[in-house]
Parts: sequence; C-alpha cells; structure tokens
Amino acid sequence: MSAGEISIRPARADDVESLRELSEQLGYPSSLNEARRRLAVILDQQQQALLVAETSDGTVVGWVHGILRPLLLEPPHIEIGGLVVKAGHRNAGIGEQLMHAIEDWACGMGAQEILIYSNVIRDRAYRFYERIGYEGFKQSRVFRKKI
Ligand SMILES: CC(C)(COP(=O)(O)OP(=O)(O)OC[C@H]1O[C@@H](n2cnc3c(N)ncnc32)[C@H](O)[C@@H]1OP(=O)(O)O)[C@@H](O)C(=O)NCCC(=O)NCCS
Repeated sequence: MSAGEISIRPARADDVESLRELSEQLGYPSSLNEARRRLAVILDQQQQALLVAETSDGTVVGWVHGILRPLLLEPPHIEIGGLVVKAGHRNAGIGEQLMHAIEDWACGMGAQEILIYSNVIRDRAYRFYERIGYEGFKQSRVFRKKI
C-alpha cells in the first residue's frame, strides 16, 4: 500500500489512546491509566523521544521510542524502546520514515549508534531492520528477577 501523506511529530499527552492501542498490537497491553502514567514520564525526559506517524486526517498510525543511554563503557548510544506501525498501514514505508526521524534525533543528541533489541519471534522485523541499514552483531540472553 502507499503511505499517502504521513507526517512525523513528537507524541503528545492526548495521543495516549492511539499509543496504547498500537502498543497492544505489538503485544504489550495496558490500561489507559497505566499508559497515561508511562507516557507522562517519557514526555518529561529530555533524553527520550517518542515520535508518532500521523495521516493527513490526524490518525496516529505508528510510533517509535528512542532513549539516550549514557554508559561508562562506551560512548552514549540510542536504544529503541519500541517501534510499531498500525496493522493495515504496514508495508507502505511508514516504519522506515519513523526510523529515519529517530536517527535524525539521535544525531542531534550526539549519539553515534542506535541499538535495537528485537525478540527472536519477530523475524519479519529483522528483515526490515537489515533493509534499512542495521546489522545483527550480537545475540544475548535476557535475565530477569521480579522485585
Ligand atoms: C516492523 C514494522 C515496524 C515495519 O513497519 P512498516 O511500516 O511495515 O515498514 P516499511 O513499510 O518501511 O517496510 C516494510 C516492508 O515494506 C516494504 N515496503 C516499504 N515501502 C514500500 C512501498 N511503498 N510499497 C510496498 N512495499 C514497501 C519493504 O520492502 C519492507 O519489506 P521487508 O519486510 O522485506 O523489509 C511493522 O511491520 C510492525 O509494526 N510490525 C509489528 C511490530 C514489530 O514487529 N515491531 C518491531 C519490534 S522490534
């Protein structure tokens, strides 16, 4: 499909319902109140960018979240905290536009690298990332402890 007229802009607090719905499509359901709380924290942080893709009629059809990670071991990099394009709007170049926009932001933040941690179940997303210039360079185990 064709993306039509898409603009990329920073997310606002009143995007919360669309962001919540799209997060659910990524496999991360939450209540509206929880989404509102999380969004407020992100919007308050200078070191994070949450960008949305919007159609000409104002419908939010995708988002990408970038987080600046200052590290002792390496120069600061940007981690992608999530990327999703609304079902029915995929394969039209919107994901690529979102990634280019977050790359521009990342350059402006002085980062030299963008890292994406992608679940092994998302093999279609792997092809997408490789096509837009990312390379898989490491496989990791993820450990967690409920606290
Ligand atoms: C991965 C994802 C974000 C990509 O977004 P998208 O908007 O579909 O991406 P694009 O349209 O830029 O590119 C996707 C495909 O469409 C093709 N494409 C791009 N522009 C196109 C156009 N104008 N016409 C036809 N096809 C096009 C590309 O070749 C690409 O093919 P590929 O899958 O072999 O890489 C989207 O599929 C998605 O939200 N998936 C579910 C959630 C997910 O996996 N997120 C990533 C978590 S790590």
